[in-house]
Amino acid sequence: MHSPTPSVSRSPASGLMVIYGASGDLAQRKLFPALHHLARDGLLTDEFGVIGVSSKAFTEQGFRDHLDETVRPHLEGGLDETSWRWLLKRVSYVSVDWEDPDDFKCLAQQVREMDARWGTDSNHAHYLATPPSRFASLVAHLCEANILRRDPQARERVIIEKPFGHDLDSAIALNRRLLETLDEAQIYRIDHYLGKETVQNLMVFRFANAIFEPIWNRRYVDHVQITVAEDLGIGHRAGYYDGAGALRDMVPNHMMQLLSLIAMEPPASFNAEAVRNAKGDVLRAIPLFTADQVAQRTVRGQYGPGQISEEGDVHGYREEEGIAPDSPTETFAALRLEIDNWRWAGVPFYLRTGKRMPMRQTEIVIQFKSVPSMMFRSTGVEDLAPNRLLLRIQPREAIVLSFGAKRPGPSIRIADADLEFCYRDRFGLGPSTGYETLLFDALRADATLFQRADSIEGGWAVIDPILRVWDDSSPGDFPNYAAGTWGPEAADRLMQQDGRQWNNQP
Ligand SMILES: NC(=O)c1ccc[n+]([C@@H]2O[C@H](COP(=O)([O-])OP(=O)(O)OC[C@H]3O[C@@H](n4cnc5c(N)ncnc54)[C@H](OP(=O)(O)O)[C@@H]3O)[C@@H](O)[C@H]2O)c1
Repeated sequence: MHSPTPSVSRSPASGLMVIYGASGDLAQRKLFPALHHLARDGLLTDEFGVIGVSSKAFTEQGFRDHLDETVRPHLEGGLDETSWRWLLKRVSYVSVDWEDPDDFKCLAQQVREMDARWGTDSNHAHYLATPPSRFASLVAHLCEANILRRDPQARERVIIEKPFGHDLDSAIALNRRLLETLDEAQIYRIDHYLGKETVQNLMVFRFANAIFEPIWNRRYVDHVQITVAEDLGIGHRAGYYDGAGALRDMVPNHMMQLLSLIAMEPPASFNAEAVRNAKGDVLRAIPLFTADQVAQRTVRGQYGPGQISEEGDVHGYREEEGIAPDSPTETFAALRLEIDNWRWAGVPFYLRTGKRMPMRQTEIVIQFKSVPSMMFRSTGVEDLAPNRLLLRIQPREAIVLSFGAKRPGPSIRIADADLEFCYRDRFGLGPSTGYETLLFDALRADATLFQRADSIEGGWAVIDPILRVWDDSSPGDFPNYAAGTWGPEAADRLMQQDGRQWNNQP
């Protein structure tokens, strides 16, 4: 039997959410389903409304009908008809020409009307689900129309999707433009990884349990591995992906977020600024690579044709629709970083991410040091596997602690054994998009799980030297791994040269 768990009950959120790009893929697949889940779970009050904005010519009712048709399939068996109807009733729509200031004046009028209709207390969250190239100009239009006003109390907030910039300079420039008209407290830069329960659980696991923290440092940890593997190819995202590549797509945002949660010092409280300060300190402590270190500590790869268990034979990257036959874009990246601070000095952090790998798997491995003395030597046991803590984020959210155990029998024989906690078995996780918590927090002005300007720039700063070397030199050996494998051999060598290996277990 489980004892009751301490929890902070969260009162439902109210306010107005304006979704720019409401006709797009993200809005239909994630944002409206997430709002439905919040409504179903009683986390929205009656003082809540939504305005969808795009250039498509819908009437209010036409847009609701459109949502009813397009969003339903994404509710994945979790549809609650009453909640869905409740939500649709609260949805309004404004069609804009994205470059016409007069249209934003009409939108401002609609915002006032919706405030009055639903009693939202002028609490506004503006979600920019638009092409990234439009973020700055859209914020400028919203400020001109007085829809957004500088306000350190952040009654009006803007949620900015990823990618936030495509390198360090462009991220700095975007931050600068946004901060010309808004206060930092109003800018909610989203990384949907932080909406995942298991990612939030990293902090709880570390700081709500006394037993791990004393060994969470260079004295006990041998190294850390972070893997974000996808079995999928690029789907219909050729245009975006070929201009970005695996490093830009995954490392400065998702992987740096995971790394900072694993490596940060205990924050003084669970308050947004305290957590974000602690995470920012980690990024600032990562020594930036020289060009020589890029050659020694990073690996890039691109998949060729191969086999994926679910799909069978698949094309190589250069044969994908919309990709040039000589594309130099990497679909795999691996790197070895260090964190130059008191806790982690000398502990390598190995990161890898790739497409068309054997399976979808996001996980963090904390590998502890081996036992200091081999007391079982005389019994014929020659090797002991070090303890390992596996924090699995997807697809099957779990925490596994591996240790050595005696095999039954008269002689001393040691086998690896696992203590496993599976999130779904314990808590019965329901369908979720990963955006629920983030939308809820944005409505309640809680920025803890959103990125501050310094953290965005810190993530880009780490990969900027790599980008510069990779952009300046042709990869030469692409494609260098077959679809359905764990990446190029050089990625294995990156570990092997340090006497270590990747965890490739399912
Ligand atoms: N889809 C995902 O799973 C996903 C995941 C992570 C991040 N994101 C990010 O989320 C954002 C939206 O992605 P998406 O996949 O939904 O894209 P999408 O399907 O192409 O939709 C883009 C939306 O932006 C609107 N738009 C077009 N031109 C615009 C302009 N000049 N100014 C403002 N808005 C304009 C479109 O509205 P019209 O009807 O007016 O054309 C459409 O509603 C992007 O920043 C993307 O990087 C998406």
